[in-house]
Amino acid sequence: MAMLEVRNLGVTFATNDGTVTAVNGVNFALERGETLGIVGESGSGKSQLSFAIMGLLAANGTATGSVLFDGQELLNAPPKVINPLRAVKIAMVFQDPMTSLNPYMRVCDQMAEVLIHHKGMSKAHAMAECVRMLDAVKIPDAKGRFRLYPHEFSGGMRQRVMIAMALMCGPDLLIADEPTTALDVTVQAQIMSLLNALQKDFGMATILITHDLGVIAGFCRDVIVLYGGRIMEKAPVEPLFASPAHPYTRGLISAIPRVDTHGETLVTIPGTPPNMLRAPKGCPFAPRCAHAGDDCADSPAPLTQFAPGRLRACHRSLEELA
Ligand SMILES: Nc1ncnc2c1ncn2[C@@H]1O[C@H](COP(=O)(O)OP(=O)(O)O)[C@@H](O)[C@H]1O
Ligand SMILES: [Mg+2]
Repeated sequence: MAMLEVRNLGVTFATNDGTVTAVNGVNFALERGETLGIVGESGSGKSQLSFAIMGLLAANGTATGSVLFDGQELLNAPPKVINPLRAVKIAMVFQDPMTSLNPYMRVCDQMAEVLIHHKGMSKAHAMAECVRMLDAVKIPDAKGRFRLYPHEFSGGMRQRVMIAMALMCGPDLLIADEPTTALDVTVQAQIMSLLNALQKDFGMATILITHDLGVIAGFCRDVIVLYGGRIMEKAPVEPLFASPAHPYTRGLISAIPRVDTHGETLVTIPGTPPNMLRAPKGCPFAPRCAHAGDDCADSPAPLTQFAPGRLRACHRSLEELA
């Protein structure tokens, strides 16, 4: 059995206006040490998918299906099961480090607390370990700076602190949700190359969530393309870029900003993401898809394997899309 098995995962939210379907029938597995990218436009369900895995859904959310981690059911598991796993075996890094850092606590104390609580370390040992981790994420003068408060670090440095905290207990799985989205391009590249190096050093499996396919390319072995809460396509990264097999993936790839002789051109996929309050009964991408027929609006295409390791959910054949 794979380290992580996600089976028929669904996430819905009860709202005053009705039920929002954020994730719908998602299946995938992740082995130890693997790198998986989850990509899709804003609102595709990427964050709720990872929150469901971590047991962090908002109070109005409901998760259905199954999430097995080393064979143990995480979905709707009691705190006594999920708490010891969280932070120790499964760690998460978010877009905005300030949402998970305590602004009133010195960085060293927050980091040490995790080690004292989860690993039973002495305060002195934990402090030394914090400096070692801050060194590992390349914070200059870690020893001199680890007594600072979070706001005394720059955005990029704060994200490094978050990564250090996430990796401190040596997790088997790291979920990084838009870890560089709030940063400027140069810092973004530095953080991605740091994550890349750490993933290789520490050997943890990593799920990298991003709306930006460009970030995926250098990092992930496999990619899931999510839209309207459903998997549109899953493939190893090279064939996904070389011959995307779903119209939505093709749209995302053509929307990657590139610099040409006329300056930067920004292509976007026509139309807007679906309103998940009235989850479409067919393929969620159908209203924006140039190839859609009546069948697409009627029922979602099942995710089917069409080549080794490659799956697509589309009623049109590859020939019809050519
Ligand atoms: N607490 C909530 N109540 C109602 N709807 C929610 C809630 N949290 C998220 N959603 C909805 O779930 C959908 C997926 O959100 P999300 O997973 O955050 O998207 P993204 O792919 O940008 O991470 C969106 O339509 C969002 O509005
Ligand atoms: Mg998100």
